[in-house]
Amino acid sequence: MEKKLKGLIQELETKLASIETVNDLNLLKAEYLGKKSVFNDLMKQLKDVSNEEKPRFGKLINEAKQEIAAKLDSARAELERKLVASKLKSEAIDVTLPGKSVNTGSKHLISQVIEEVEDIFIGLGYTVKEGPEVESDKYNFEMLNLPKDHPARDMQDSLYISEETLLRTHTSPVQVRSLLENSNQEPMKIICPGKVYRKDDDDQTHSHQFTQVEALVVDEKANLADLKGTLLFVAQKLFGEEREIRLRPSYFPFTEPSVEVDVSCYKCGGVGCSMCGNTGWIEILGAGMVNNNVLRDAGYDPNRFQGFALGMGVERIAILKHGVDDIRAFYTNDLRFNKQFRGK
Ligand code: DAH
Repeated sequence: MEKKLKGLIQELETKLASIETVNDLNLLKAEYLGKKSVFNDLMKQLKDVSNEEKPRFGKLINEAKQEIAAKLDSARAELERKLVASKLKSEAIDVTLPGKSVNTGSKHLISQVIEEVEDIFIGLGYTVKEGPEVESDKYNFEMLNLPKDHPARDMQDSLYISEETLLRTHTSPVQVRSLLENSNQEPMKIICPGKVYRKDDDDQTHSHQFTQVEALVVDEKANLADLKGTLLFVAQKLFGEEREIRLRPSYFPFTEPSVEVDVSCYKCGGVGCSMCGNTGWIEILGAGMVNNNVLRDAGYDPNRFQGFALGMGVERIAILKHGVDDIRAFYTNDLRFNKQFRGK
């Protein structure tokens, strides 16, 4: 009996040496001290032992049980200690390590300038309209007073998709779409930002794709003085409150009269410098009074309605405002370029 008990304890020790989890330990505990443990058999065997020997064996069994319980307890304590240690190790935070840098994106300069222009016009009560980039010849040209054989079509080299469809060469077709949509012929004040396309070879000042913002006002009394007031307001918001503007006569088929708009040079204040080619003025956009043919074709009676329109190149505004010297920089996505205009 003594041997058997020693053997049991040794056996437990070897098993304890290889357990890894609390679950393993619980299984061992059940095996050695549970209801169906080896001790039950030993207790049964006690009845075959002589009466003088009984107390001694009983004592031995109890001692062995206590020893086993103590070993299991200390193994449990050891396991728990190890568990805590490994958890501490795996969850350790080195507060001296440099943090991970978070790369946040920012808006492209073109988007920023579009939003700036939108904000100015929205403040004046305009709403923002958009139109498709793949446009019909009818809206891009014909209904803007540019019939098929009109020589002024050459002003805009076009990228045709089919005979009647092209990539819009300007945002002016959104004027036509908006007027037609407005079948009750109500007054309107809209701006239309968006991408436009020309059959141009890309170089420092040309891009086959660029961005425009169109503005259109139609009501019963909009006149050239209103256009001029609007242009002055917009130019001052974009280039500084001290700016002045001047209108030069020009030609666009969809406006009559048409003007080219210059802003006084924001670098030299109008005295003349390299920025403005010593003229004191910088051209910023085209504008004019909506041509009667455009109004009539879109269902607006030119005897009752009149309006003005303007179209500006967003890249041009961005180039002027931020001193960008190559239009291609907007489209080559060099992060060193883009990052210069973060959060502006
Ligand atoms: N659509 C013209 C262009 O792309 C720009 C323009 C000029 C728009 C005069 C207008 C305008 O609305 O009145 O060259």
